[in-house]
Amino acid sequence: MNTQSTMTMPAETQKFIELVRLYNIEFEEKTGRPPVCHTHSYGCQQNVSDGERLAGMLAEMGYSFTDDRNEADFILYNTCAIRENAEDRIFGNVGALKHNKRRNPGMVVGLCGCMMQQEHVVEKIQKSFPYVDLVFGTHALHHMPELLYTRLSRGGRVFDTAADSGEGIVEGLPARRDSAIKAWLPIMKGCNNFCTYCVVPYVRGREKSRPAQMVLEEARSLVEAGYKEITLLGQNVNSYGKDLESPIGFAQLLYKMNEIPGDFRIRFMTSHPKDCTRELIDAIAACDKVCNHIHLPVQSGSDRILEQMNRHYNRQSYLELVRYARERIPGVTFTSDIIVGFPGETYSDFQETLSLIREVKYLSLFTFLYSPRVGTKAAAMEDPVPAGEKSKWFRELLTVQSDIGNSLLEKMVGSVVEVLVEGMGKTGEDYSTGKTASSVSVDFIGSEQLVGQIVKVRITQALSWALMGELV
Ligand code: 5AD
Ligand code: SF4
Repeated sequence: MNTQSTMTMPAETQKFIELVRLYNIEFEEKTGRPPVCHTHSYGCQQNVSDGERLAGMLAEMGYSFTDDRNEADFILYNTCAIRENAEDRIFGNVGALKHNKRRNPGMVVGLCGCMMQQEHVVEKIQKSFPYVDLVFGTHALHHMPELLYTRLSRGGRVFDTAADSGEGIVEGLPARRDSAIKAWLPIMKGCNNFCTYCVVPYVRGREKSRPAQMVLEEARSLVEAGYKEITLLGQNVNSYGKDLESPIGFAQLLYKMNEIPGDFRIRFMTSHPKDCTRELIDAIAACDKVCNHIHLPVQSGSDRILEQMNRHYNRQSYLELVRYARERIPGVTFTSDIIVGFPGETYSDFQETLSLIREVKYLSLFTFLYSPRVGTKAAAMEDPVPAGEKSKWFRELLTVQSDIGNSLLEKMVGSVVEVLVEGMGKTGEDYSTGKTASSVSVDFIGSEQLVGQIVKVRITQALSWALMGELV
């Protein structure tokens, strides 16, 4: 599914898309087939959304797409730097490309995204991965056509890993979206928070909001194209607008989004508890299109650790937010991110996290073992707890959450819920799958025709990963 933004893209980007397109026409004349690319984005939704814009430009250049990297003339990995295991996986995959390159020396290998904004990573690629041809960072998305053209026309290795220039999201890049039902809509880039464990502010630069008019224009065109769910994206989405000339708060943006005519849902991620105001909770309550689910990463339940993490809220203020949201938004659900084993965390700090989880009763959690990141403050902190001990805590956390999640799902058995049907389910051939506004997955016997519709389903059974139901 391709959605062209109503804005025009930078003239330079357009020029180089055209030049690569001409190059690719020649390629097709010579080989009798269009050039094929294989792209993959690792990590968060922001990265996936960037990947959709990269793919949009590639489609305009005349590339066709393949899931099989062995067939590709151009391989582009959009990388993630958030934790060490993400980086290791990517290096593993890049290592495997050596054989592809040996078999097909004409193939172009590209790496982009967060890892490419880290000096030590770029040095490693320069020295140890000579078969990587194209390297560019998060700030050079719209330069990709020029960099690729340089590589195709002149050969050699091409690097663009310039630091954040303060430029906002570049408007007008086409997006080749993965889904025809759910769309990611980036409303800002960067992060100013410098949580002490996190590499994001270093690799994605400072917060820069898109003007509201651009966001609303893109949202309207998505609704007109038939999208049924729009997720507003930002690393710290609820600090949206603070940097704009005529500031508009995130709550006000939600009201404006809600006024767009059409039958669609609005979601957003990721919210920071310090910017989650009562005004925002009131907006979620008042806007009928905004879903009653808030992803509100708490990271830890211990005030001491929250302070060390530089999170700017405490356990009590967080719980107060949750209480207010429960009072104002019917059926609201919460999900969260938790880090286990932050430097200096003790078992008693960890127990405070468990008690907070029991108190909030999250629908589900993204749980992470702390991973030191080069350049962050926490990487220099003393970290005396052995990895094996942290893993034990981690398993304890999973057990506690699994009981909470299961009991929330079990309570829904017998109720009738509204489900946006997203596709055919994993449960079985005839099963459709979708989500409630509160973000619970529901599978039921349905059909392909229902995809994209909001249907009523009676919940008959709770499984550990989803609810089962029947069409009403
Ligand atoms: N180690 C472990 N988890 C991390 N996260 C961010 N940085 C780290 C790190 N260094 C987690 C946080 C964040 C999520 C996107 O990733 O929980 O909310
Ligand atoms: Fe990282 Fe904190 Fe910014 Fe989230 S808010 S991206 S955890 S620095």
